[in-house]
Amino acid sequence: MPSRCWTTLAVFGTLCAASPKRGLVYVPNEAWPQDDAIWIQHNSVLTWYYTYGREPHAAYNPPASDLEFVPMMWGMGDDPDDTGFLNSINSQLDAGVNIRHVLAFNEPDMRWDWGGSDLTPAKAARGYVANFVPLRSRGIKLGLPSVSGAGWGIQWLREFEGNCTQLLNRKCEYDFVPVHWYDNFGGFMSHIDEAIAEFPDARIWVTEYAFAHQNLEATKEFYRLSAEYLDNHPKIDRYGYFGSFRSQVSNVGPNATFLNNGGLLTNIGSLYLGFGETGLDPISG
Ligand SMILES: *[C@@H]1O[C@H](CO)[C@@H](O)[C@H](O)[C@H]1NC(C)=O
Ligand SMILES: *[C@@H]1O[C@H](CO)[C@@H](O)[C@H](O)[C@H]1NC(C)=O
Repeated sequence: MPSRCWTTLAVFGTLCAASPKRGLVYVPNEAWPQDDAIWIQHNSVLTWYYTYGREPHAAYNPPASDLEFVPMMWGMGDDPDDTGFLNSINSQLDAGVNIRHVLAFNEPDMRWDWGGSDLTPAKAARGYVANFVPLRSRGIKLGLPSVSGAGWGIQWLREFEGNCTQLLNRKCEYDFVPVHWYDNFGGFMSHIDEAIAEFPDARIWVTEYAFAHQNLEATKEFYRLSAEYLDNHPKIDRYGYFGSFRSQVSNVGPNATFLNNGGLLTNIGSLYLGFGETGLDPISG
């Protein structure tokens, strides 16, 4: 039997595959830099990562790790035509960095003080046309802006597309739609269905998800159901759980995290990396 097996809810039996879809949402961590090594340990099933930034984490470059780095243009400054992101990606490609996908704008539909990049669809479209569209000719796959899971996210994207079409005089190019979700599993499935209905030609990436601020049982049940669902969903190419940090610094509740207070893998953290349960709860340590 392969070593990477774990038991799920009875109806699902045992899962043994390394999901090629699974990635690391790397959250910069100044207090415990030693935790960074946890995510690139040998035999983990993770295949890709993003850091919300345009350059890779220096400690994750080959040969330390073979995770595929996915750059993100988090937000925009005052100049809507600034091409700093495009220039950086072009230089990295020229230097041989393995970049195959790019992510655009973190929660542009959310205000700054809620952690969003707070962009109007009109401004974001300018930034996208300047920095993303040219990368397609280099074979890079483009993500639409990564809107929040709020009800207005799709409307924000419609206005973004409208502006993009006006600027380009043709439909804006993209390959995949990033989705965020922090509520229950039923809502998660409906939200994905909504994204598929709105963007039938695109692939789906879930670039942040967890059941935030719940008790431990509900958190773990959500984790198990969603892992099975994401691995098997034919439209979903990649996913990244939001939880690669210690419980005491979590902004999604203390029960959702990959690490306990002492920096050891919780049950969810260990399962996510493809190992067995550790028996550790997030609030321990
Ligand atoms: C462009 O975006 C603005 C908001 O930034 C919106 O009011 C407008 O309707 C959009 N234009 C199109 C053509 O969708
Ligand atoms: C975390 O889980 C424990 C155990 O289920 C629960 O008692 C506690 O209320 C949860 N914390 C939060 C903030 O939901």
